[in-house]
Amino acid sequence: KKVVLAYSGGLDTSVILRWLQTAYGCEVVTFTADLGQGEELEPARRKAELFGIRQIFVEDLRETFVRDFVFPMFRANTLYEGQYLLGTSIARPLIAQRQIEIAEMVGADAVAHGATGKGNDQVRFELSYYALKPDVKVIAPWREWELTSRTKLLAFAEQNQIPISRDKRGEAPFSVDANLLHSSSEGKILEDPAVAPDESVFQRTISPEAAPDVATEISIDFVSGDPVAVNGEALSPAMLLTRLNEYGRANGIGRLDLVENRFVGMKSRGIYETPGGTILLAAHRSMETITLDREAGHLKDSLMPRYAELIYNGFWFSPERRMLQALIDTSQHSVTGRVRLKLYKGNVITVGRESPNSLYDTRVVTFEDDQGAYDQVDAQGFIKLNALRLRLGASAGRRGGAL
Ligand code: ARG
Ligand code: SIN
Repeated sequence: KKVVLAYSGGLDTSVILRWLQTAYGCEVVTFTADLGQGEELEPARRKAELFGIRQIFVEDLRETFVRDFVFPMFRANTLYEGQYLLGTSIARPLIAQRQIEIAEMVGADAVAHGATGKGNDQVRFELSYYALKPDVKVIAPWREWELTSRTKLLAFAEQNQIPISRDKRGEAPFSVDANLLHSSSEGKILEDPAVAPDESVFQRTISPEAAPDVATEISIDFVSGDPVAVNGEALSPAMLLTRLNEYGRANGIGRLDLVENRFVGMKSRGIYETPGGTILLAAHRSMETITLDREAGHLKDSLMPRYAELIYNGFWFSPERRMLQALIDTSQHSVTGRVRLKLYKGNVITVGRESPNSLYDTRVVTFEDDQGAYDQVDAQGFIKLNALRLRLGASAGRRGGAL
């Protein structure tokens, strides 16, 4: 029996690794991905070697993550429950996909992850596994083992010579998930939604109060819905998001304190930092304002909450996500041009937008003489016919839209 474990190198997944080797008695293959979480990966490799792992995969997936997952999602201006930019949700299908590819490569019949039985991540990992390898065996140690408390976990680590860093010996103050798009902090000291998070929770943004008193002006260029350059400098997807993260960090942009509804049914409170993503969302929306037809824009906007929900719930590899993606991608063909923005103390303020495909027509919209571009007389019949049913209703005694 062989299992591919999504291995971070941290205490929890190290305990899982050893547990799989002992309690489960299977050969473990580790997979550690760089998604831009800002941690060294070589220590994870060395740790895996110490556990006697023979097949160790350590991969930099940052470009794939941003190009094939983050950018497609941003084409839809995706927000879950109006606020969450889905930084964790969008990373899970990529990790799962690569895990399955590795499982097929090394001939493993099982995969394992370190998500708990209470959260969304178990659902996202496992729906992706099953969609890509229907007969795969899934091992979720948190739902199975007897290490049901921190004390038991630490005791297991000690018995198995698993190094425990000093800060892990006491209870870690909250749980963090991070990648190039965001960092999220949940649990423990953050569990009371009435209590504000301490400043020390924030890891990738300075506070808006501490941000400069003068605005930073930047430009972002888009081609067919995707950002391709910052301040005129062409950048790869991961490098571009990295650059926007730097601007966001310095200007206190992208903090969010949210109580959200998990797929499994409970409410949870999270502190999110999505600096570059917050800038990108504002810029992309502004690009669309001049390039998208009104009904095309309204249609994709109306579908966005569905699209967000299915990504949140873990259905990236589903027919409905592919259908919506095709519609969203089609809408983006003309979304090309440049947006100029001011970044100022947590705010992203659009100050200009231009496009070779702009639908904005000064001749038509102008308050000055439009020299026949638009015939105001047309508006009379337009309004009259739109008013017809309202007038019929009012005449029948249902004034003002009364039912
Ligand atoms: N609540 C977020 C989501 O479901 C983040 C979950 C992982 N975060 C964490 N700190 N463990 O997408
Ligand atoms: C976890 O439970 O592993 C993290 C939180 C979540 O998945 O929602």
